[in-house]
Amino acid sequence: MRPRPVLIAPSILASDFARLGEEVRTVDEAGADWIHLDVMDGHFVPNITFGPPIVKAIRPASKKVFDVHLMIQPADPYLEAFAEDGADIITVHAEAGPHLDRSLQAIRALGLKAGVSLNPATPESAIEYVLDKLDLILLMTVNPGFGGQAFIPAILDKIARTRGMVGDRPIHIQVDGGITAKTAPLVAAAGADVLVAGSAVFKGGTRSAYAANIAAIRDAAEAAVSSAAA
Ligand code: DX5
Ligand code: ZN
Repeated sequence: MRPRPVLIAPSILASDFARLGEEVRTVDEAGADWIHLDVMDGHFVPNITFGPPIVKAIRPASKKVFDVHLMIQPADPYLEAFAEDGADIITVHAEAGPHLDRSLQAIRALGLKAGVSLNPATPESAIEYVLDKLDLILLMTVNPGFGGQAFIPAILDKIARTRGMVGDRPIHIQVDGGITAKTAPLVAAAGADVLVAGSAVFKGGTRSAYAANIAAIRDAAEAAVSSAAA
Protein backbone atom coordinates (compact mmCIF):
# COMPACT_ATOMS: atom_id res chain seq x y z
CA MET A 1 0.00 0.00 0.00
CA ARG A 2 1.32 3.43 -0.93
CA PRO A 3 1.70 5.56 2.21
CA ARG A 4 -0.62 8.57 2.21
CA PRO A 5 1.18 11.90 1.71
CA VAL A 6 1.77 14.08 4.74
CA LEU A 7 0.37 17.61 4.49
CA ILE A 8 1.86 20.51 6.47
CA ALA A 9 -0.49 23.26 7.66
CA PRO A 10 1.39 26.19 9.22
CA SER A 11 -0.61 27.97 11.92
CA ILE A 12 -0.43 31.72 11.40
CA LEU A 13 -0.92 32.18 15.15
CA ALA A 14 2.88 32.10 15.37
CA SER A 15 3.40 34.59 12.53
CA ASP A 16 3.97 38.35 12.77
CA PHE A 17 0.43 39.76 12.95
CA ALA A 18 1.68 43.22 11.96
CA ARG A 19 2.56 41.72 8.56
CA LEU A 20 -0.09 39.04 8.33
CA GLY A 21 -0.80 39.11 4.58
CA GLU A 22 2.92 39.02 3.80
CA GLU A 23 3.46 36.13 6.25
CA VAL A 24 0.71 34.09 4.58
CA ARG A 25 2.24 34.72 1.14
CA THR A 26 5.72 33.85 2.40
CA VAL A 27 4.72 30.60 4.11
CA ASP A 28 2.73 29.60 0.99
CA GLU A 29 5.85 30.12 -1.15
CA ALA A 30 7.90 28.24 1.46
CA GLY A 31 5.90 25.06 0.82
CA ALA A 32 2.84 25.12 3.09
CA ASP A 33 0.14 22.74 1.86
CA TRP A 34 -2.69 24.41 3.78
CA ILE A 35 -2.91 27.62 5.83
CA HIS A 36 -4.23 26.93 9.35
CA LEU A 37 -6.23 29.77 10.93
CA ASP A 38 -6.87 29.66 14.70
CA VAL A 39 -10.03 31.50 15.72
CA MET A 40 -10.40 31.99 19.50
CA ASP A 41 -13.17 33.70 21.45
CA GLY A 42 -11.90 34.16 25.03
CA HIS A 43 -14.79 31.95 26.18
CA PHE A 44 -14.31 28.43 24.81
CA VAL A 45 -10.56 28.97 25.16
CA PRO A 46 -8.68 31.48 27.34
CA ASN A 47 -7.40 33.62 24.47
CA ILE A 48 -8.78 35.84 21.69
CA THR A 49 -7.43 35.98 18.15
CA PHE A 50 -9.42 37.11 15.11
CA GLY A 51 -12.66 36.67 13.17
CA PRO A 52 -14.04 36.64 9.61
CA PRO A 53 -12.76 40.10 8.53
CA ILE A 54 -9.15 39.00 9.01
CA VAL A 55 -9.79 35.83 7.01
CA LYS A 56 -11.19 38.02 4.24
CA ALA A 57 -8.23 40.40 4.41
CA ILE A 58 -5.63 37.65 3.98
CA ARG A 59 -7.59 35.55 1.47
CA PRO A 60 -5.89 37.22 -1.55
CA ALA A 61 -2.45 36.32 -0.17
CA SER A 62 -2.72 32.59 -1.01
CA LYS A 63 -4.66 30.14 -3.15
CA LYS A 64 -3.92 27.29 -0.74
CA VAL A 65 -6.64 25.66 1.36
CA PHE A 66 -7.74 27.93 4.22
CA ASP A 67 -8.18 25.53 7.13
CA VAL A 68 -10.20 27.38 9.77
CA HIS A 69 -10.04 25.96 13.30
CA LEU A 70 -12.89 27.44 15.32
CA MET A 71 -12.25 27.50 19.06
CA ILE A 72 -15.48 29.40 19.67
CA GLN A 73 -18.71 28.64 21.49
CA PRO A 74 -21.25 28.80 19.89
CA ALA A 75 -19.87 28.25 16.39
CA ASP A 76 -23.05 27.85 14.31
CA PRO A 77 -23.97 31.57 14.10
CA TYR A 78 -20.59 32.37 12.49
CA LEU A 79 -20.23 29.56 9.95
CA GLU A 80 -21.73 31.51 7.07
CA ALA A 81 -19.46 34.51 7.65
CA PHE A 82 -16.32 32.35 7.65
CA ALA A 83 -17.53 30.61 4.48
CA GLU A 84 -18.19 33.92 2.71
CA ASP A 85 -14.87 35.37 3.78
CA GLY A 86 -12.79 32.54 2.39
CA ALA A 87 -12.70 29.36 4.51
CA ASP A 88 -12.31 26.09 2.59
CA ILE A 89 -12.49 23.80 5.62
CA ILE A 90 -14.23 24.69 8.87
CA THR A 91 -13.47 22.66 11.98
CA VAL A 92 -15.64 22.95 15.08
CA HIS A 93 -14.94 21.50 18.51
CA ALA A 94 -17.12 18.59 19.64
CA GLU A 95 -17.05 20.13 23.14
CA ALA A 96 -18.31 23.54 21.97
CA GLY A 97 -21.93 22.75 21.21
CA PRO A 98 -24.74 20.29 21.92
CA HIS A 99 -25.58 19.58 18.26
CA LEU A 100 -22.43 18.46 16.49
CA ASP A 101 -24.33 16.61 13.76
CA ARG A 102 -26.24 19.78 12.92
CA SER A 103 -23.05 21.91 12.85
CA LEU A 104 -21.39 19.49 10.43
CA GLN A 105 -24.43 19.47 8.15
CA ALA A 106 -24.45 23.27 8.20
CA ILE A 107 -20.77 23.44 7.15
CA ARG A 108 -21.32 21.03 4.25
CA ALA A 109 -24.49 22.89 3.21
CA LEU A 110 -22.28 25.97 2.75
CA GLY A 111 -20.24 23.94 0.25
CA LEU A 112 -17.21 23.52 2.53
CA LYS A 113 -15.36 20.55 3.98
CA ALA A 114 -16.34 19.78 7.56
CA GLY A 115 -13.98 19.01 10.41
CA VAL A 116 -14.40 18.20 14.07
CA SER A 117 -11.79 18.75 16.75
CA LEU A 118 -11.36 16.88 20.02
CA ASN A 119 -9.60 18.30 23.06
CA PRO A 120 -6.99 16.04 24.67
CA ALA A 121 -9.43 14.71 27.30
CA THR A 122 -12.27 13.94 24.84
CA PRO A 123 -12.40 10.31 23.67
CA GLU A 124 -12.68 9.47 19.98
CA SER A 125 -16.00 7.75 20.67
CA ALA A 126 -17.56 11.27 20.71
CA ILE A 127 -17.51 11.23 16.90
CA GLU A 128 -18.44 7.61 16.21
CA TYR A 129 -21.90 8.50 14.89
CA VAL A 130 -20.92 11.46 12.70
CA LEU A 131 -18.09 9.82 10.74
CA ASP A 132 -20.02 9.94 7.47
CA LYS A 133 -20.47 13.70 7.78
CA LEU A 134 -16.78 14.40 8.28
CA ASP A 135 -13.88 15.32 6.01
CA LEU A 136 -11.36 15.89 8.79
CA ILE A 137 -10.76 14.95 12.42
CA LEU A 138 -8.48 17.29 14.36
CA LEU A 139 -6.96 15.65 17.43
CA MET A 140 -5.55 18.33 19.71
CA THR A 141 -2.10 17.41 20.97
CA VAL A 142 -2.16 20.35 23.44
CA ASN A 143 -5.00 22.09 25.27
CA PRO A 144 -6.21 24.70 22.78
CA GLY A 145 -5.63 28.39 23.40
CA PHE A 146 -1.95 29.09 22.88
CA GLY A 147 0.94 28.31 20.59
CA GLY A 148 4.26 26.99 21.85
CA GLN A 149 2.95 24.41 24.33
CA ALA A 150 4.40 20.93 24.93
CA PHE A 151 3.05 17.97 22.93
CA ILE A 152 0.92 15.52 24.99
CA PRO A 153 2.21 11.98 24.23
CA ALA A 154 -0.98 10.24 25.45
CA ILE A 155 -2.70 11.40 22.24
CA LEU A 156 -0.60 9.02 20.13
CA ASP A 157 -2.84 6.17 21.22
CA LYS A 158 -5.95 8.23 20.33
CA ILE A 159 -4.53 8.89 16.85
CA ALA A 160 -4.07 5.15 16.25
CA ARG A 161 -7.56 4.30 17.55
CA THR A 162 -9.09 7.04 15.42
CA ARG A 163 -7.27 5.77 12.34
CA GLY A 164 -8.76 2.34 13.02
CA MET A 165 -12.25 3.80 13.47
CA VAL A 166 -12.03 5.81 10.23
CA GLY A 167 -11.15 2.71 8.19
CA ASP A 168 -11.39 3.33 4.43
CA ARG A 169 -13.34 6.57 4.69
CA PRO A 170 -11.62 9.54 2.98
CA ILE A 171 -11.18 11.48 6.23
CA HIS A 172 -8.01 13.39 7.12
CA ILE A 173 -6.59 12.97 10.60
CA GLN A 174 -4.99 16.23 11.66
CA VAL A 175 -2.93 17.00 14.75
CA ASP A 176 -2.32 20.41 16.29
CA GLY A 177 -0.06 21.54 19.11
CA GLY A 178 3.61 20.96 19.85
CA ILE A 179 4.34 19.53 16.39
CA THR A 180 8.05 19.75 15.51
CA ALA A 181 10.51 17.65 13.51
CA LYS A 182 10.84 15.57 16.71
CA THR A 183 7.15 14.84 17.31
CA ALA A 184 6.14 14.67 13.61
CA PRO A 185 7.42 11.09 13.12
CA LEU A 186 5.45 9.91 16.16
CA VAL A 187 2.12 11.35 15.00
CA ALA A 188 2.64 10.29 11.38
CA ALA A 189 3.49 6.72 12.38
CA ALA A 190 0.36 6.64 14.56
CA GLY A 191 -1.78 7.62 11.56
CA ALA A 192 -2.01 11.43 11.31
CA ASP A 193 -1.75 12.83 7.76
CA VAL A 194 -2.17 16.61 8.26
CA LEU A 195 0.29 18.26 10.64
CA VAL A 196 -0.40 21.74 11.98
CA ALA A 197 2.66 23.59 13.24
CA GLY A 198 2.98 27.17 14.44
CA SER A 199 6.18 27.93 16.33
CA ALA A 200 8.17 25.20 14.57
CA VAL A 201 7.38 26.71 11.14
CA PHE A 202 7.59 30.45 11.86
CA LYS A 203 10.88 30.40 13.79
CA GLY A 204 13.60 32.25 11.93
CA GLY A 205 11.27 34.83 10.35
CA THR A 206 12.41 34.50 6.72
CA ARG A 207 11.15 32.59 3.70
CA SER A 208 14.21 30.36 3.61
CA ALA A 209 13.85 29.58 7.33
CA TYR A 210 10.17 28.71 6.83
CA ALA A 211 11.03 26.49 3.86
CA ALA A 212 13.70 24.64 5.86
CA ASN A 213 11.36 24.31 8.87
CA ILE A 214 8.50 22.91 6.74
CA ALA A 215 10.85 20.52 4.93
CA ALA A 216 12.31 19.26 8.23
CA ILE A 217 8.84 18.45 9.61
CA ARG A 218 7.66 16.88 6.34
CA ASP A 219 10.81 14.78 5.86
CA ALA A 220 10.73 13.50 9.45
CA ALA A 221 7.04 12.55 9.12
CA GLU A 222 7.40 10.92 5.71
CA ALA A 223 10.43 8.91 6.81
CA ALA A 224 8.40 7.49 9.70
CA VAL A 225 5.46 6.63 7.44
CA SER A 226 7.61 4.86 4.84
CA SER A 227 9.56 2.90 7.42
CA ALA A 228 6.25 1.81 9.02
CA ALA A 229 4.97 0.69 5.58
CA ALA A 230 8.18 -1.21 4.71
C1 DX5 B 1 -3.55 25.99 19.69
C2 DX5 B 1 -3.75 26.21 18.21
C3 DX5 B 1 -2.60 25.78 17.41
C4 DX5 B 1 -1.31 26.51 17.69
C5 DX5 B 1 -0.20 25.51 17.53
O1 DX5 B 1 -4.73 26.25 20.36
O2 DX5 B 1 -4.90 25.48 17.77
O3 DX5 B 1 -2.90 25.76 16.00
O4 DX5 B 1 -1.09 27.60 16.84
O5 DX5 B 1 0.99 26.12 17.91
P1 DX5 B 1 2.35 25.33 18.11
O6 DX5 B 1 2.62 24.59 16.83
O7 DX5 B 1 3.30 26.40 18.41
O8 DX5 B 1 2.12 24.36 19.26
ZN1 ZN C 1 -5.30 25.15 15.54
